[in-house]
Amino acid sequence: MTSPSFRPRRSVLYMPGGNARALEKAKTLAVDAVILDLEDSVAPDAKAEARATACAAVTAGGYGGREVVLRVNGLDTPWGKADMAAAVAARPDAILVPKVSSASDVAHAASLAHGIPLWVMIETPLSILNARDIAAAAQSSTMVCFVLGTNDLVKDTRMRTGKERLALLPALSQAVLAARAFGLDCIDGVYNDFRDEAGFAAECEQGVLLGMDGKTLIHPAQVEACNRIFSPSDAEIAAARKVIAAFALPENGSKGVITVDGRMVERLHLAMAERTDAIARAMTA
Ligand code: COA
Ligand code: MG
Repeated sequence: MTSPSFRPRRSVLYMPGGNARALEKAKTLAVDAVILDLEDSVAPDAKAEARATACAAVTAGGYGGREVVLRVNGLDTPWGKADMAAAVAARPDAILVPKVSSASDVAHAASLAHGIPLWVMIETPLSILNARDIAAAAQSSTMVCFVLGTNDLVKDTRMRTGKERLALLPALSQAVLAARAFGLDCIDGVYNDFRDEAGFAAECEQGVLLGMDGKTLIHPAQVEACNRIFSPSDAEIAAARKVIAAFALPENGSKGVITVDGRMVERLHLAMAERTDAIARAMTA
């Protein structure tokens, strides 16, 4: 298997760190990960209280197999350093660092994280321009994941982006390419209009086409469609297992290229099939 330790990150739900009801509700939702937010969704006057509430929830646990991620404030804000110290004490599965714009921003966060895995927000114009260098910082840090911050990207670039996200596409692809080049996961941005089911599903499907591993969510109503769309379909799993079985036949053991159902299949397709199979197994585990 190519990815025996594959960890699904299809559905990644944000919640304001001070919203105790949401922190509790998240324990009942079929999400792969939760992000307890201390940044954009928390007003300045509520920062200290949200930090205490969120860190207490992390320490208390109860999130089962869900990855628990704490999003701190930017390290150049009045709250960033205290957030990092509280995160280190609470030990979430990962710390999500916002407004990262360079490899040295990753190094700075890593120096404060005491070995806790880092996720980083890709959400500034500079983060897109420096995506390769930021991703390369994975080689000398505990960074494992990019998270697209599309609301901030739109704000800072002044893009006009409608349902098709046309203006955003080059930036999204740049982030995926950089993530893939250095072995990181890449999670798509949020869909703000959480009552628009059809629009949300279409944006999930676009994320799959772009190569995203999953999508960040803002509301429980988005979870089910997100998990479904970011999971391989039954047909994709069956096709992948057919390729694996074909290469496992003794007569194909030394071949580089074979025919399966009238299509050329090479060993690179075997690697893709093994990944699909690993994902399918992880999702039913
Ligand atoms: N995580 C967990 N639970 C959530 C949730 C979330 N993000 N959003 C809503 N819920 C819960 C509510 O607490 C409520 O639970 P209850 O049935 O126990 O009362 C239920 O889901 C229904 O919520 P609803 O009334 O439809 O939404 P709302 O009006 O309370 O909240 C938002 C709407 C947008 C304010 C809220 O969904 C939210 O805060 N989202 C996350 C925002 C965020 O974290 N942004 C930062 C990154 S962009
Ligand atoms: Mg933001």
